[in-house]
Amino acid sequence: MENISVIGAGVMGHGIAQVFAMNNFNVFLVDINEEILRKAIEQIQWSLKKFSEKKIIKEEEINSIISRIKILTNIEGAAKNSDFIIEAVPEKMDLKKQIFKILDEKSPKHAILATNTSSLSITEISEVTKRPEKVIGMHFFNPPQLMKLVEIIKGKYTNEETIKKTIEICEKIGKKPILVKKDVRGFIVNRMLHQFLNEAFWTVYRKEAIIEEIDSIVKYVAKFPMGAFELADYIGLDIVLNVSEILEKAYGLRAKVCPIIKNYVEKGKLGRKTGIGFYDWSKGRPEIGLITNSKYDIIRAYAIIVNEAAYLIYEDVSNPRDIDIAMKLGAGWPEGPCEIADRIGIDIIHNKLQEMYEKYKEEIYNPCKLLKEYINNGRLGKKSGKGFYEYKEITN
Ligand code: CAA
Repeated sequence: MENISVIGAGVMGHGIAQVFAMNNFNVFLVDINEEILRKAIEQIQWSLKKFSEKKIIKEEEINSIISRIKILTNIEGAAKNSDFIIEAVPEKMDLKKQIFKILDEKSPKHAILATNTSSLSITEISEVTKRPEKVIGMHFFNPPQLMKLVEIIKGKYTNEETIKKTIEICEKIGKKPILVKKDVRGFIVNRMLHQFLNEAFWTVYRKEAIIEEIDSIVKYVAKFPMGAFELADYIGLDIVLNVSEILEKAYGLRAKVCPIIKNYVEKGKLGRKTGIGFYDWSKGRPEIGLITNSKYDIIRAYAIIVNEAAYLIYEDVSNPRDIDIAMKLGAGWPEGPCEIADRIGIDIIHNKLQEMYEKYKEEIYNPCKLLKEYINNGRLGKKSGKGFYEYKEITN
């Protein structure tokens, strides 16, 4: 497999194209007009320059990497010459279906058709093609140039050969593939991230803490690479809202969308890309200050993410090891949620959820049954020698 097409040259598409070109693949990068493609190449140039400054690549390699990317506005022209195609267009099911129909008609019979969707159904997309067994989810993380994770999602019809080839291609481009066992909305990382963001939004909405306090604790106490509001701005508030609404539709009140995010989107304040969101990005990344007397209790955020991890395990979507790897490599967290739970104590996490559930009467805080089962079986985490993981030595 040498010829790759990336359909959509936005934030994700241009980054994915760059990653393939850096790993010696020939890439067709497709979008609807020259202007978008020109901007995409400029962004790739910027990113490659950063890599050469950091000695990840040699400066003289920049031109040859760029030369491996052919920009096109003609989707058919790219499809017919590709062995592997990744769609990265906006999260609209109708648009994706339209594109997959064309890709199916125009690409060679052996070509695998992957979608970078962050939350739509792989099965539904595959059903518009005559090769649903060759359709797969291949979900990268922003920025794709730096985030090591790719979630691989099996649709209802995806066959083992397609999974095997997609895993191989991820490894060839230096990414870590994690297989998501079920085609559920939000897969692993977006389910975790959006519950985490949503709880932060609700906390501010209820005026229990201010944005800067939460982000300070998230960054300096939990040591996540970005504060919750900073990350939402970085992803794009329109995208966060879109994914949140898909999750709310799938999981109901447990993923109830906070009105705060809608307000920002309605005002066109979409975060980094518009220069303003929760923060002012007009002069670059915002500085998150250290607030020592913050009212925000990080155990709240931990409780929410551990709860979501428990749901993922309970529903057999994933396992503790894969969830932890996914969050560390897809979101840059220093520890995965299952590691956090075992360190802090599953009983402590459960008590916090119960306390918040009683206080707010919101399903977001309703503890997953798995946590109670673990507690009843003495699986409290490191302190009892067993939690999400087993520990040989019992340490306090
Ligand atoms: N290419 C090359 N270099 C890049 C880059 C890119 N695309 N983006 C940033 N850099 C560079 C920066 O310019 C900076 O360079 P300098 O040292 O020369 O200034 C360097 O990388 C480090 O960046 P920062 O100083 O900004 O800070 P950082 O150490 O925090 O790293 C980060 C940046 C890797 C993005 C990190 O903050 C991080 O991991 N953040 C979390 C991102 C995350 O959660 N992503 C998932 C979002 S959800 C998603 O994508 C799914 C979806 O479907 C919506």
